[in-house]
Amino acid sequence: MSDFVRVAVLEEVPPGTLLGVEVGEERICLANVEGEVYALADNCTHQEFPLSAGILEEDQLECGWHGARFDVTDGRALCLPAMRPVKTYEVRLDDGAVWVAVSGAAAGAAPGAPSAP
Ligand code: FES
Repeated sequence: MSDFVRVAVLEEVPPGTLLGVEVGEERICLANVEGEVYALADNCTHQEFPLSAGILEEDQLECGWHGARFDVTDGRALCLPAMRPVKTYEVRLDDGAVWVAVSGAAAGAAPGAPSAP
């Protein structure tokens, strides 16, 4: 089961930027594409490297280490050296904040996290 957890204030991730956040033990990369926010696992599927340290160009995220590209809207790997998609999360924007649907265990581990909107 997934619960929505408040992970950031929308102003922290303006259009065209990435933001790494932690929810429990999950690291999540937020990507703002022209006001639409997407969330994906903050770890490249090629090797261990945070995608939030990469570059966002429109709806494509380029990994900062070896240049693999991912579609932030669905997590697809678009070019080598990554071949596997990255996990994505459902996102809601509410009350000026970004809410991400995470597994129950991770949601429960977030200290002080308010309940879903
Ligand atoms: S770690 Fe991301 S492309 Fe290699």
